[in-house]
Amino acid sequence: SQDEKSLVNDIKALLLSNNAVLVAHYYTDPVIQALAEETGGCVSDSLEMARFGRDNKAQHLVVAGVKFMGETAKILSPEKTVVMPTLEATCSLDLGCPAKEFSEFCDQHPDRTVVVYANTSAAVKARADWVVTSSIALEIIEHLDSQGKKIIWGPDRHLGAYIQKQTGADMLMWNGECIVHDEFSAKALQKAKHLHPNAAVLVHPESPASVVSMADAVGSTSQLIKSCSEMSNEEFIVATDKGIFYKMQQLAPNKTLIAAPTAGEGATCKSCANCPWMAMNGLQALKEALIQPQGKEIFVESALAERAMMPLNRMLNFAA
Ligand code: 13P
Ligand code: SF4
Repeated sequence: SQDEKSLVNDIKALLLSNNAVLVAHYYTDPVIQALAEETGGCVSDSLEMARFGRDNKAQHLVVAGVKFMGETAKILSPEKTVVMPTLEATCSLDLGCPAKEFSEFCDQHPDRTVVVYANTSAAVKARADWVVTSSIALEIIEHLDSQGKKIIWGPDRHLGAYIQKQTGADMLMWNGECIVHDEFSAKALQKAKHLHPNAAVLVHPESPASVVSMADAVGSTSQLIKSCSEMSNEEFIVATDKGIFYKMQQLAPNKTLIAAPTAGEGATCKSCANCPWMAMNGLQALKEALIQPQGKEIFVESALAERAMMPLNRMLNFAA
């Protein structure tokens, strides 16, 4: 629409005049992803967002995603300003893992190495030995397991169970989940497979084990996008947030993408494969963050940030 076009143009001009760069996640609205691409920012998974934010020369980062992504950017570049379209964009994994309770859980098992998913608060990261994202979690747990380490894993129990099954590592789990992926249903997926017998099934490992077990490819957002481009199938059933379709379709325009069904048997879906917090990153909110950053800027207390930087850097160095 005309409104959308003029907002996009305003944002482009503001990014330029503010010397700011836009870093967006694959789950944000396609219009935000396109804007990041057109303005020299980046659209990527959580690991690449962290790396891009750290390595980019711009003094000001605008992070379109959820709060932990903004916090990670700030922790890795304390000298940069980091704003977000809204600080209300949280994540059910972060909400389900309060720092105090998690820390007490860790205290009860001092012999274990603490590995936390990136989808956590700065305070939870500050209690961890390692941070991982879904694209590197398997390799890092394999590495720790080969050193004979016993692990505390938090907060995503589905991702944890998947990694545990792949590696056989000794992992004590926190009981959290992503409300978006938790809604995919194996029973409903079975029906979809029946309707599309030649489709390959792509699944993000935040999904329940019964869904993961039906996958032809399991991986982080960037890994699923790669699978969609590289696999010879013409049809794909995709079990992750629908925002990912933008990049999949861009890289593989001739392929047919089918959204995996959420919730089985007559139940109505709640998130419907669209993260409500990712969806808060609208154009208007983004424009406002560039004009009036007050209330939209990320701050992480410096002692906490220093402590949280250690496990984050371990991950980035391991991935390098
Ligand atoms: P990745 O992009 O790292 O796969 O993360 C998925 C996610 O749920 C982010 O919120
Ligand atoms: Fe959190 Fe799930 Fe939303 Fe990602 S998709 S931000 S894991 S609730």
